[in-house]
Amino acid sequence: MAEPQATIDEFKRAAAERAVAAVADGMTVGLGSGTTAEFALAALATRMAGGLRIVGVPTSERTASLARRYSIPLVPFDGRPIDLAIDGADEIARGTLNLIKGGGGSLVREKLIARASRRFIVIADERKLVDQLGAYAPLPVALLSFARACVLQELAALGAAGTIRQVGGRDFVTDDGLVIADCAYGVIADPAALAPRIAAIPGVVDSGLFLGLAAEAIVAGATGVHVYTAARRP
Ligand code: A5P
Repeated sequence: MAEPQATIDEFKRAAAERAVAAVADGMTVGLGSGTTAEFALAALATRMAGGLRIVGVPTSERTASLARRYSIPLVPFDGRPIDLAIDGADEIARGTLNLIKGGGGSLVREKLIARASRRFIVIADERKLVDQLGAYAPLPVALLSFARACVLQELAALGAAGTIRQVGGRDFVTDDGLVIADCAYGVIADPAALAPRIAAIPGVVDSGLFLGLAAEAIVAGATGVHVYTAARRP
C-alpha cells in the first residue's frame, strides 16, 4: 500500500537530517535540488542556528533562493574543492548506488557539483531504491533546444526517443536555457555503456545517469533510516 505524502515527507526529512549530521564546521557543501534536498537545506539552517558555519554551492537557482532565505551563505561554483554534496535522486540502484537524477531538471549542475565533491551523499525515501535503473523513472537528457529533432532521433536509435518535457503547454527550460528529453528506456541493463553513447550525441549537454559518483545513500522508510555504501564502481 502506498504511504501517505506526509509519511513520505517524514522519510525524506529523516534521510536529510542524517546526511546533514555529516556536515562539519568550515565545510563547503554542495546543496542539491528537489524536495528531498530541500529538507537538507532546512536541517542545515537548523544546525547553523546552533553555531555551525558552512558555505554552500547551490545546484539550481531555486536552491540558491531557498538557501538565501535560510541565510546559508553561498559561494560560486568556481573550482574550489567541495567537501560534501548532499542531493536527492529519482532512482538509486542497490549495490552500485548508480543514480538517475534530473526529475527537477537540474541534472547538469547537479552532476558538476557531485563530480567536484570529495564526498557525495544521496538521500531519498525508500521508493527510490531499485534493482536496476530505469525500472520506474524516465531518464532525463538535457540538450540544446536547437538540436532537439536530431537528438530525439539519435536517442530513439539508442532505444527511447523521449519527449521534450513540457510545463503548462510550453517547453520546460532549465536554469541554463536547456530543454529536457525524458526517455523511457525501461530497465537500463548496462548504464555504463549507455551513458557515453548519449553524451556523444551532438547537442546533448548531459544525461541524468550519475555513475560511480555517490559514495553513500541514506534511505529512509518504514523500517527506519538505512545507510548504504557503494559496493563497486561501474
Ligand atoms: C533535481 O533535478 C533532481 O535530480 C532531484 O534531485 C530528483 O528529481 C529527486 O527529487 P525529489 O527529492 O523531489 O524526489
